[in-house]
Amino acid sequence: MKISVIGTGYVGLVTGTCLAEIGNDITCVDKDHKKIENLKNGILPIYEAHLEDMLIRNIGENRLHFTTSVEDAVRHATIIFIAVGTPSHENGDIDMSQVDEVAGEIGKSLDAYKIIVNKSTVPVGSVKRVAEIIQRHLKREVEFDVISNPEFLREGSAVLDTFQGDRIVIGSTSKKATKILHDLYRPLKQKIFTTDPESAELIKYASNAFLATKISFINEIANICEKTGANVNEVAKGMGLDKRIGEKFLNAGIGFGGACFPKDVKGLIKIGEKLNYDFRIIRETLQVNEEQKMKPIMILDNLFPDLRGVQITVLGLTFKPDTDDIREAPSLDIINELHKRGAKIKAYDPIAIENAKRVLKLPIHYFHEAYDAIAGSDAVLLLTEWKEFKELNVRKIRSLMNRRVFIDGRNIFEAKAMRAKGFEYYGIGIDNCQFTAICSIEERMIPIENQKSHHTCGRA
Ligand code: UDX
Repeated sequence: MKISVIGTGYVGLVTGTCLAEIGNDITCVDKDHKKIENLKNGILPIYEAHLEDMLIRNIGENRLHFTTSVEDAVRHATIIFIAVGTPSHENGDIDMSQVDEVAGEIGKSLDAYKIIVNKSTVPVGSVKRVAEIIQRHLKREVEFDVISNPEFLREGSAVLDTFQGDRIVIGSTSKKATKILHDLYRPLKQKIFTTDPESAELIKYASNAFLATKISFINEIANICEKTGANVNEVAKGMGLDKRIGEKFLNAGIGFGGACFPKDVKGLIKIGEKLNYDFRIIRETLQVNEEQKMKPIMILDNLFPDLRGVQITVLGLTFKPDTDDIREAPSLDIINELHKRGAKIKAYDPIAIENAKRVLKLPIHYFHEAYDAIAGSDAVLLLTEWKEFKELNVRKIRSLMNRRVFIDGRNIFEAKAMRAKGFEYYGIGIDNCQFTAICSIEERMIPIENQKSHHTCGRA
């Protein structure tokens, strides 16, 4: 099939390249000339596993083309994916300006029946909105359909998710468009769920908000674990055995980040607000996450009377492993807070240092090797569970550190083993706990409401 994908961000590039891989003729469009020139030469603006090889192969086999002209792309295709950015405004409202602009340009260039697919994450009602804009810009009467087809790709495994995803959602009122989309996706051999456009649009927000809530839920359980001496890893394992709950997305830690969860949770709150509905649960999901990000700071505050001049090493800057994306990463808030408190900051990440330099305009000493970043530190903060961190030699780390505080924000090490090796080790919601260092065992037994208010969990 002849397909155009407008917007060569994360979603557009993965969608375009994967659809080329299954034999379609794809044209990707972006108004950024430099990006398009780079892409023509097989240079990706993002890091994503398997994407580069696939991009180069499909360019070579003449199935993947790049242009800056929306008009050419519209003419070329039967199906046009809109995959431009939909960032959120400060107040959580979705900025639809790029979608609106593209819809107008599509309208002006439409010359025959085409299907326009909303792939970007857009508020409920956007299928109608895009259809109206296209209609207004038509130069002559042409038939077209607009449908919703949200993506559920995870960064770092986006290619795999495209080929082995759990479902493809299509929101359409047109039988003709639905059939063509089914034909397009049939080779992927995945469950295709077809519904009305509004439901499809809401499925995306609801799914992300639900997963984000699962994370905030387990993080609150982690806080309770710290007050009771339970171990959140054990609790999560036990919970996950119930098939209705499932074992996934129950990893306690320093909270969720990335381009999707924070934005989509805020977006759903906004959708509610516009309908005069207060979505209380997900407002709390967000609030719990904001507090959870500060856990390493709370622990440090309890260990060091003053962080001024304390040498801290941050390991991991991205919001999760296998991506170079630091958008909304907990590391950003944590580093800003460390800076405010006057700590001396050293940082290492396997691939995101350049991205961090662009965003964090702070006096941070960046390293290209974990051990170099750790040498001479008073405390290590592990913020992303990169595989290479799991393989670090902890004896070597111990020998390199000044004071041996190790805060494991992703629970990748075993508390007992780390303590046995001489670390002041703190995980999130594990048996340690912060309380063994901060308040006495006896105090743990005092009813929560009577405990001192300075616990590291900060929620007393
Ligand atoms: C997410 C959704 O999974 C995907 O379906 C959607 O299309 C886009 O948003 P992504 O943002 O790439 O994907 O990352 P994901 O793997 O879902 O993780 C999001 C955040 O949650 C990360 O910061 C991660 O560290 C955190 N997380 C995840 C936890 O803290 N605990 C968990 O158990 C799982």
